[in-house]
Amino acid sequence: MITARYFVAALLGFVSLFISVTAQEITSDTYFYGQSPPVYPSPEGSGSGGWNAAYAKAKALVAKMTLEEKSNMTYGTSSVKNGCSGNIPPIARLHFPGLCLSDAGNGVRGTDFVNSYPSGIHVGASWNKALARQRANAMAAEFRTKGVNVALGPVVGPLGRIAEAGRNWEGISNDPYLCGSLGAETVQGFREKGVINSVKHYIGNEQETNRNPSGNVASVSSNIDDKTIHELYLWPFAELVHAGAGSIMCSYNRVNNSYACSNSKTMNGLLKTELGYQGFVVSDWGAQHSGVASTLAGLDMAMPSSSFWGANMIEAINNGSVPESRLDDMVTRIIASWYYAGQDFGYPAPGIGMPTSLTQPHTVVNAKTSSAAQPLLSGAIEGHVLVKNTKNALPLHHPQLLSVFGYDADVPYAWDAGQFGSFAAINNQIQNETQVVAGGSGANNPAYISSPFVALTARAYQDGTSLSWNFYSMNPSVNPASDACLVFINSYATEGRDRSGLHDPASDTLVNNVAASCSNTIVVIHNAGIRLVDQFVDNPNVTAIIFAHLPGQDSGYAITSILYGDTSPSGKLPYTVAKNESDYGNLLSPALPAGDFVLFPQSDFSEGVYTDYRAFDANNIEPRYEFGFGLTYTTFSYSHLQISNSASKQQYPSGPIGLGGPTDLWNVLVTVSAQITNTGRVSAAEIAQLYVGIPGGPVKQLRGYDKIQIQPGRTETITFQLLRRDLSVWDVVAQKWALQSGQYKIYVGSSSRILPLTGTLTI
Ligand SMILES: *[C@@H]1O[C@H](CO)[C@@H](O)[C@H](O)[C@H]1NC(C)=O
Ligand SMILES: *[C@@H]1O[C@H](CO)[C@@H](O)[C@H](O)[C@H]1NC(C)=O
Ligand SMILES: *[C@@H]1O[C@H](CO)[C@@H](O)[C@H](O)[C@H]1NC(C)=O
Ligand SMILES: *[C@@H]1O[C@H](CO)[C@@H](O)[C@H](O)[C@H]1NC(C)=O
Ligand SMILES: *[C@@H]1O[C@H](CO)[C@@H](O)[C@H](O)[C@H]1NC(C)=O
Ligand SMILES: *[C@@H]1O[C@H](CO)[C@@H](O)[C@H](O)[C@H]1NC(C)=O
Repeated sequence: MITARYFVAALLGFVSLFISVTAQEITSDTYFYGQSPPVYPSPEGSGSGGWNAAYAKAKALVAKMTLEEKSNMTYGTSSVKNGCSGNIPPIARLHFPGLCLSDAGNGVRGTDFVNSYPSGIHVGASWNKALARQRANAMAAEFRTKGVNVALGPVVGPLGRIAEAGRNWEGISNDPYLCGSLGAETVQGFREKGVINSVKHYIGNEQETNRNPSGNVASVSSNIDDKTIHELYLWPFAELVHAGAGSIMCSYNRVNNSYACSNSKTMNGLLKTELGYQGFVVSDWGAQHSGVASTLAGLDMAMPSSSFWGANMIEAINNGSVPESRLDDMVTRIIASWYYAGQDFGYPAPGIGMPTSLTQPHTVVNAKTSSAAQPLLSGAIEGHVLVKNTKNALPLHHPQLLSVFGYDADVPYAWDAGQFGSFAAINNQIQNETQVVAGGSGANNPAYISSPFVALTARAYQDGTSLSWNFYSMNPSVNPASDACLVFINSYATEGRDRSGLHDPASDTLVNNVAASCSNTIVVIHNAGIRLVDQFVDNPNVTAIIFAHLPGQDSGYAITSILYGDTSPSGKLPYTVAKNESDYGNLLSPALPAGDFVLFPQSDFSEGVYTDYRAFDANNIEPRYEFGFGLTYTTFSYSHLQISNSASKQQYPSGPIGLGGPTDLWNVLVTVSAQITNTGRVSAAEIAQLYVGIPGGPVKQLRGYDKIQIQPGRTETITFQLLRRDLSVWDVVAQKWALQSGQYKIYVGSSSRILPLTGTLTI
């Protein structure tokens, strides 16, 4: 029985067609051999891209290590007792202190005296590069004080391909450009404090369903063609490598049916050859599935332990299956990242502030500082996206009576020591309390929780406002004297499972029930991913809707500031909100084991680069709220588009490989500017966006943005610099980034569909 597989090169990318001649279940992995091209040997780190000094020191240290010491550096040990997610043991003889690796991308998890920062999706919704850097700086200071050498984040994959995917909220955006630029700021912010980032999850980790093998069912395989992986999924990783990331975490899924942590094409090929990556690759926790094979494919460290390495590694070197130079390179990459971050001098001892238990006596290491206050609060404020504001509902005008409803308005009934860092406790309760962060290993630890209700109470105290509330009734009674009814709902998500839909009948009903007797119903949604609003958006009594995302511990202060107009909302959607689930088509739900492949679930990325707004544009589907959309309390006008396109341009880059690829991919080729005027009455920030229509590609793709505060009546000029990489497509034949000859379209405006300025650029 044969299942024939054909690859058809379609006009705009590669579409793979699987044609079953006869139905027969595939039972052996050998069926898939060769689907991911072999790339060997594993490139040795060279020290290029500014890593020379770190490599020189690392090589000197590694040269002093015995075979067993080197081997011990490559996998996590349980012999070190602390609360870190993973530990590399010390080598006392060489004064190497060991390494602590710990969650998460939005703040330290599993300990006390730390803060809960806005999550990835909230950073994406803020579109603020400087703020992303400040947040990273403040978080990194806490990781450092706690003795965490490697912070497990930021997340730039998943890239939101599947609307219901459970970890999209940990990632920054569904757009690779937005994700990459804010992710790069994050890496730089961590580097300024000497903390190594482990950028995750590499690569194609777009669903939770079947992410790990279970019984005799293998992990889902993300089948991604060469053009799509370069232009979409690899894009943010390239940018974070360019920014100096010291660690990349390979993911649970398979890519073209080869486990991501044993895949030589993705690790040796794309990452260590094409992107010139100098750091180390660490497995996601438990994602190592082979010994010799993962070693040769480019995996450098296994976590939290390894059943494949250790004694077997030494045997494999002794019997010639693994060259010792490969082990040397693994350890050199690990140690070089440590030197590159400057952790060899003055760094707190690994895990010093990470106790194994918070209910037992432990040394207090207070990582909180006053410098975190501003990024915590601004970060929380800026990720709120106002999408509807009618009848002058917001900002509130000195309300005499506010009625507050919804299970998301108040703090959890308990937040005690047992809950710190515990997946289950957080998971079970967040559905009945205000959601400041979602579930799984990205659930960070708040120092306190400013809930919407607590913050509104403080404001009411100041203003002499009356409050009425009912958090749990799904059909509460409303005092007709209410100036406004605030309904707080959330949509929960967690690592380990995908969501079952994008709306929620219970909270939709709550909103409509309140609106039936309140003509000024304002809905606030703490959404861990896309949340549809069509069940209530057209209700005339629903006057305002805010996507409040996952603000971290300052949630209540932030929403109160926005509701009262102390700050004009300034976030924009980092994803597309459809009118209905079906509008996402095949990209709504995760792939499931099916047909001949019940033992080997297949997820074919046959849509190519057409995900999120690229798909809505290509399929002519009108979204409810488009990518990049968000309202504020003023209005802006756009004018004076200027495109300066001077230098003549060769088709391909010609520079040497630096961090992230050929160095000249980062050369500025075109400059675009525009003027923006605040035509309203209050000061507010606008996020100006630039989209490029590359000949033969999607109608438009984000390639520039800037967030700028503009006073009423003032005009500011915004300048966008377009790099070679921004204007290139991946040429699968030449295996290079290529400029296209012809007319490029340039669009500038306030969202992906409100683009008042258009121009062209000829290359
Ligand atoms: C996956 O397979 C496609 C189709 O053959 C190919 O274009 C791509 O390079 C492969 N990628 C990896 C990482 O194996
Ligand atoms: C390597 O690790 C093993 C297991 O933790 C330990 O028993 C051994 O002493 C270590 N070897 C060296 C040389 O540190
Ligand atoms: C060498 O050792 C490794 C690790 O134990 C083992 O997997 C491999 O089969 C051995 N190869 C030979 C040729 O003995
Ligand atoms: C939420 O908490 C309230 C009050 O403790 C309780 O009555 C209700 O059953 C809870 N709902 C859920 C879904 O846990
Ligand atoms: C809007 O609210 C008013 C009460 O303020 C109510 O009389 C009316 O029926 C509501 N309209 C809808 C469409 O629910
Ligand atoms: C909305 O999407 C759901 C889920 O895909 C589908 O069952 C339903 O038919 C769609 N409704 C409309 C009006 O398109």
